[in-house]
Formats: sequence, C-alpha cells, structure tokens
Amino acid sequence: MKFGVFLPNGSNGYIISNAVTPYLPTYQHNLEITVEAEKQGLDFVLSMMKFKGFGGDTGYWDACLESFTLMAGLAANTQSIGIIPTVTLLSQHPAYVARMIATLDDMSGGRCGLNIVTGWNKPEYTQMGLWRGDEYYERRYEYAAEYLQILQELWRTGECTHKSEFFDLEECSCLPTPGRDIPIVSAGMSPKGVEFVAQHAHQNFVMAHPEKLKDISDSVKAKGAAIGREVGTYALFNIITAETDEKAKEIGDDIIQRADMGAIGNIINSAAMDSNEGGTSDHLQEAMKQDLEVGNMAFMGFPTIYGSYETVSAKIDEIAEETGVDGMLFSWADFVGGIRDFGEKIKPRLACL
Ligand SMILES: Cc1cc2nc3c(=O)[nH]c(=O)nc-3n(C[C@H](O)[C@H](O)[C@H](O)COP(=O)(O)O)c2cc1C
Repeated sequence: MKFGVFLPNGSNGYIISNAVTPYLPTYQHNLEITVEAEKQGLDFVLSMMKFKGFGGDTGYWDACLESFTLMAGLAANTQSIGIIPTVTLLSQHPAYVARMIATLDDMSGGRCGLNIVTGWNKPEYTQMGLWRGDEYYERRYEYAAEYLQILQELWRTGECTHKSEFFDLEECSCLPTPGRDIPIVSAGMSPKGVEFVAQHAHQNFVMAHPEKLKDISDSVKAKGAAIGREVGTYALFNIITAETDEKAKEIGDDIIQRADMGAIGNIINSAAMDSNEGGTSDHLQEAMKQDLEVGNMAFMGFPTIYGSYETVSAKIDEIAEETGVDGMLFSWADFVGGIRDFGEKIKPRLACL
C-alpha cells in the first residue's frame, strides 16, 4: 500500500468552504508539507495544475503554482519521496514535457512520475487560445493516447517521428533519456478515461466512495490484464481526525454547512459543459448533495475518512482490505499537522502496511 499527498498548490487546497481560512499557495508551504511527508515515510507527493480558479468568497484555486517548476524545487530539497508533476495536455507540447520529465528525473535521482490530465474545463484553455473546439471533450483520450505514445518513444529512444491529425514531429530529438520507464498516472473515471488508463498508464486515481471503489479498481485491473498490462488504483480521500469520532464529524459537517456555494456553482457550471459522460464531471454534480463520507463538493467531491486516530486507522485498513486498492492519495485542511499525525498516530496502527 502506497500513500501520497495531494499538494495544495492551488489556493485553499481541496476545501471549498468559509469554515476554513482561505490561503494562497506558496513554495514554502508545499516544501514543508513534502519534507514532513518524506520524514513520515509517505511515498509520493503530487501537484496539480489549474489555469483559472473558481472564485467565490474564498477565491477557490484562483492562484496556482506551476506544477513542474514547483516539483523541481521539491526534488532538489528531498532525498527519497516520489515526485509527481501534472501535465495538462493542451498547454504543453509533448517533446517539451518529455524533456522536463527527463530533467526532473535526473534532478531527483529517478523519483519522478507524471500525472496526465486531458483537461475537462474549457475556460482554462479558451483564455489562452488553446482549446481545440468542443469536440475535444469527446476526443480528449484519443489525444492523450497519442501524446503519451510520443512521450514514451522519446523517453525510450531519444527520437520520435509522429504525424497525425493532432501532432507533427519529424525526427524530433529529446536527449538525455531518463533511462527507465517513467510511472504514468491519470485520473479517468469516465468509461473512456478508464480505458485510457488500462491501455497506457500504470495507476488510476479514483475519487469514489469505498462502496464503488472495488468495482472501479477491479474493472481497470481486468481491462489492463486483458491486454497483458498491470494497472493499479489509487483512491483519493480527505482526512479529518479529532479526539472523538463525533468531534471529527462535527468539523466535517461544519465545513459542508459553510461551503462556498459561489465557487462550487462555478465548478458545477464548468463541469456541466463537459459532454464526456459517466466521469468526474458527473461525479462533481452528484457531490453537491452527498454527505461527508461519500464525498461532498465542499471537499471537491473527495470522500472523507474521519474520526479518532484509532477509527481512521481502522477505516483505512477496512478500505484497503475490501477494495484491493494499491494506494491512497490524501488531503487535509491542515496539511503539515495532518501528515505528522498520520505518520505518528495512524501509520503505526495500520495492518495494510
Ligand atoms: C488525483 C487527481 C489529480 C487531478 N489533477 C488535475 C489537474 O491537475 N488539472 C485538471 O485540470 N484536472 C485534474 N484532475 C481531473 C482529471 O485529470 C480528469 O480530467 C477528470 O477526472 C476528468 O476525467 P474523466 O471525465 O475521465 O473522469 C485530477 C483528478 C484527480 C483525481
């Protein structure tokens, strides 16, 4: 079982509520989080990328530190923790990204992975003239498959020729190569997204209540196995701990009750434009009415594991056993304190380790 941290490199991390004091993302904060995560023996940190936030009272994600440059700083200041930046495919050419990853992998001594994000949120890209038309909603995983094929060829051979409707590379050179397979993660929950992960990635990130997790994890594993590939699932959770289970639930419910409905409304409006069905955009719309445990929009739709340290440890073990996921990616309201408590009070109780 691997554990990772979903870095808060966008304003306010993953909580959309007036119950939590808004904050801007800083390198110093993300560095403190990463150093603490490494100290507590967590396996990786992942940063996201958003080019336009969702406003509201809290200015949710209005500021976002750039993922690759942030991870370079973190790589240079850590020794063992895995470093996973995010590429939003429409914003960068694959030959450029292949080179950035080769650089980061060298800097980090082989600790770099890559999160592939196709881009579901049109306004982020239209503002830069980078949106490929609304048919991209439906075709984004086709685009991603070709993009990844180019990355992997460049990493394996240092050169790529690729001519298609989407790309035009002619004996494109990219040296040095990383000299190893770069782990690829992606977060497709739609049927097309799951298919993409099964065919091309190593891990799928899934945002779903534990009851649904097993089916999603089994499905991506089976699809991968059918073509001779091993594909794992990492599940996303927010963690809330307190002296008692009741107190932890109170904290979570208060965050939901004081949700920033302006920001949430803006996310939902963007998600509603996404015509690729059965995926995250649908999940976010359903999350408006879900409770803490299932995943409310005040927590960006992430399910929350809450309770005393004992309860949270027992729940993590139960999820691990019942769903067969390979890892978990966590967020907290207070990241540094949450990671310290995770390492000192939760990890030692876990049977799944
Ligand atoms: C762990 C994780 C990280 C993500 N990072 C980003 C990101 O940095 N930028 C972004 O636009 N979307 C991000 N997403 C959204 C997904 O990459 C994906 O676009 C979304 O799940 C829609 O795909 P689907 O329609 O196949 O479900 C992330 C999702 C998860 C679960």
